[in-house]
Amino acid sequence: MVFELSNWSREQLVLIEQALSEWVPSQAGANLGESMRYAVLGGGKRLRPLLCLATRRSMRMQVPEAAMASAHVFDQAALRAACALELIHAYSLVHDDMPCMDDDVLRRGLPTVHVQFGQAMALLCGDALQALAFELLTPSESLVPARVQASLCRHLSQAAGYAGMAGGQAIDLSSVGATLTQVQLQEMHAKKTGALLHACVMMGASCADEGLLSPTMASALSTYAKALGLAFQVVDDILDVISDTKTLGKTVGKDAAHEKPTFVSLLGLSGAQSYSQSLYQEANDALLGSGLKDVQALSALADVVIKRKS
Ligand code: IPE
Ligand code: IPE
Ligand code: MG
Ligand code: MG
Ligand code: MG
Repeated sequence: MVFELSNWSREQLVLIEQALSEWVPSQAGANLGESMRYAVLGGGKRLRPLLCLATRRSMRMQVPEAAMASAHVFDQAALRAACALELIHAYSLVHDDMPCMDDDVLRRGLPTVHVQFGQAMALLCGDALQALAFELLTPSESLVPARVQASLCRHLSQAAGYAGMAGGQAIDLSSVGATLTQVQLQEMHAKKTGALLHACVMMGASCADEGLLSPTMASALSTYAKALGLAFQVVDDILDVISDTKTLGKTVGKDAAHEKPTFVSLLGLSGAQSYSQSLYQEANDALLGSGLKDVQALSALADVVIKRKS
């Protein structure tokens, strides 16, 4: 059957938006709930949830029709994982935009959370979104096997923490004005952005019956995700230079203004573009060698990452 990314994404995005709206509370202390909904709802490409659900789709396609009794349970687990990933992402953006970090006033075409609600509330908003992500992964009376819930929590905490996003953000902030080597820049990007995108794929892959994910598949998916995650931040660096504020929904030109080391500052525009192309190739090659029967959604999302304009 011919796979149409636009049709598949449209259906998945409806599920994602409904679930986020249901799970992010409006009532919390003072206007905390309002700030959380403001940070999460109403904008964003939802690439992380889509990547998670695309990987779950590949896992589902491995199983013959007759053995699909558990499919619904794992689809639900993947939807929770997809939303948890978006909550961690949204929290990272709220903190990333604060004056003590990138000091940005525009996000997803709207005033940033600290502009709208104040810095203290933005800090708490991020804290609460992070905690809520793990709550979503561990619902009470769930039919999802405990080993899957634990694996989801492990992937997400590793990606968000010191060895992943928080660690990468620390390197980013301490590298202002510095010239990093390509290896150092790769490490920074892989941590601050790549780790969470890697988790999207590995969490989607975790939502399956035991033994379904072979070591070859796991390793190929991991290679795909690492290449794609790095490519994503390289493209983000490129867009900061070539796009405009209206299209991006965030202020362009901030990396150079803040003297951030980026792939554009290191390799130049065309060097960064060809680097993102080679990462795209690496991601697709990994999918081809994965042994998975259907990788169409994952392959189409790699296209989106490379060709995106916002
Ligand atoms: C922006 O991420 C921040 C980075 C990690 C580079 P996205 O470009 O995915 O932002 P949204 O979610 O679509 O707003
Ligand atoms: C953000 O990187 C990475 C995280 C939020 C973890 P950037 O600082 O480049 O993201 P934008 O450009 O503000 O979206
Ligand atoms: Mg930043
Ligand atoms: Mg930023
Ligand atoms: Mg950026």
